[in-house]
Amino acid sequence: MNLDLFDHPDFHSNWREDLCPGAVVLRGAALEDDVRLLAEIDRIAGLVPFQYRATPGGYAMSVAMTNCGDFGWVTDKAGYRYQATSPENQQQWPAMPALFRAIAVKAAQEAGFPGFDPDACLINRYQPGAKMSLHQDKDEHDFGQPIVSVSLGLPAVFQFGGMERSDKTQRVQLTHSDIVVWGGPSRLRYHGVLPLKAGEHPLTGSYRFNLTFRKAS
Ligand code: SIN
Ligand code: FE2
Repeated sequence: MNLDLFDHPDFHSNWREDLCPGAVVLRGAALEDDVRLLAEIDRIAGLVPFQYRATPGGYAMSVAMTNCGDFGWVTDKAGYRYQATSPENQQQWPAMPALFRAIAVKAAQEAGFPGFDPDACLINRYQPGAKMSLHQDKDEHDFGQPIVSVSLGLPAVFQFGGMERSDKTQRVQLTHSDIVVWGGPSRLRYHGVLPLKAGEHPLTGSYRFNLTFRKAS
């Protein structure tokens, strides 16, 4: 047996780490499907390219975004919202691949949220230095449904806080193929991502990708 395996950055057996009531990290949960997930991201980005959007206050976001599913999350001067079409080409977003949906539904179930019915998948792309400030996911209609977040590629430090922006945050290292689920009493917790450190991942090069699944409507 080669013990070096355990030092490999992508080595995981599947295990769960509870963050708070209603919030859990499922380590390595997307590992079996990583190549197929990344191929789908590539295909979707070929249809609706990644965009650097602006916050309602006019700041350019450092994370590039695209979407798939019935609804996509967008932001511009008019505010944060979900819409059924891409602002760039007014076309419907690409359909959510069956594989995406299956992974999200299974992760939600394992985290204690059976019957998750995602209709939106935001695809985030982080390059070195890209970050996401602390925020709540609250543009959805039904807070009874959880958020499922799949990390791929370079590792990042995820901040998971409380119900107020000023609450203390936990720092959680998320690596390739980890899935975080938060719902129930944790559904509206503040969270964010610290600036991505430069690196090279065998499957994604200098990027981190994140899929967040939501029930928007
Ligand atoms: C998000 O909160 O939308 C993104 C979280 C992440 O990139 O891990
Ligand atoms: Fe979020």
